[in-house]
Amino acid sequence: MKTKVWRVDPNIPDPRLLAEAAQAILEGKLVAFPTETVYGLGANALDRQAVQRVFVAKGRPAQDPLIVHLASAELLSQVARDIPPLAERLVKQFWPGPLTLVLWKQPHVLDEITAGLPTVAVRVPAHPVALGLLQVSGVPIVAPSANRFGHVSPTTAQHVLEDLEGLIEGILDAGPTPVGVESTVLDVTGSPPQVLRPGGISLEALQSLIGPVVYSARFAEAGDQLAPQRSPGLLAKHYAPRAELWLFLGGKEQALGKMRETAERLSSTGRRLGLLVSEEDRGLFSDLPLVVYSLGSERQLDKVAQRLYAGLRSLDRRGVELIFAREMATEGLGWAICDRLRRAASRVVE
Ligand code: TXA
Ligand code: MG
Repeated sequence: MKTKVWRVDPNIPDPRLLAEAAQAILEGKLVAFPTETVYGLGANALDRQAVQRVFVAKGRPAQDPLIVHLASAELLSQVARDIPPLAERLVKQFWPGPLTLVLWKQPHVLDEITAGLPTVAVRVPAHPVALGLLQVSGVPIVAPSANRFGHVSPTTAQHVLEDLEGLIEGILDAGPTPVGVESTVLDVTGSPPQVLRPGGISLEALQSLIGPVVYSARFAEAGDQLAPQRSPGLLAKHYAPRAELWLFLGGKEQALGKMRETAERLSSTGRRLGLLVSEEDRGLFSDLPLVVYSLGSERQLDKVAQRLYAGLRSLDRRGVELIFAREMATEGLGWAICDRLRRAASRVVE
């Protein structure tokens, strides 16, 4: 299959190209499209075979449920029931936007989508191209991140093609996605609500609207990877580059010291080493033979989030075997950045 690339303006996508992509969706084909977070791999949520094709194209295990994307919040009751008042408030405040709500599902929602769970994950994306595709096709669209399972999520159309070219009908290419990390997944079926995955909407923003939320940055043990669990997105070792990632934790000075020491020691071994680093930190390594990707200033976490996945992919492309990175702030988007770095890491140095 030759994958079509529909190049569109991110703000005013050409209606003819949207119509072509929407037609493909209605024919049960797979279409990748940009959301404000990452590129999604879209299929008609009402078409069982189309949904099954998503799992095949991604190489994704069937027990990992999908997010249903809607054109507007008014459609929510078509897929979810017993929606608590607190969810209504979240919807008013954050949709369209990078917040996914886990709610009790309507009976007709396909088991393939929910992996047999009684709940469904739903969101309304805040990207004109995603919304255009949803409106023109007139159906809910399931969309996991458009990468091969376990690989780094795509923030450009090029990333999608690297993983899925020839396996999908087409891609709407609207340039890089603005947020850069996936949506926050919040389970509102229990009380207090539980963050299953930190993402584009910060924990602080959630708490200031609805009060306490539960978030535990737990990571499954490697051996547990395929065990059924609450949210399979909680799998450790996810979002991983091909290179090994060593993540340095702890206070800034201490972590940087250890990182510098390790980089120095290993640079004499002939291994090709990479550095995923903030603009503030990079000077400390300038005398070492490292392949550097700058995430920008650590004071601008929105920029760091935007560049994170591109950085991991770029270091991979440049043939790096080992990447060093340091954990940054745990506030705002920092929660999501830390979460993704931890999942990508094959070793954590404290
Ligand atoms: O930003 C995003 O959310 C992107 C864009 C394309 O919308 N999508 C995305 O999808 O990240 P995916 O499939 O890569 O991640 C969906 C996450 C997974 O962690 C999955 O386990 C969780 O949502 N999830 C889906 N349905 C669930 C459910 N019923 N209960 C608990 N977790 C669920
Ligand atoms: Mg994903």
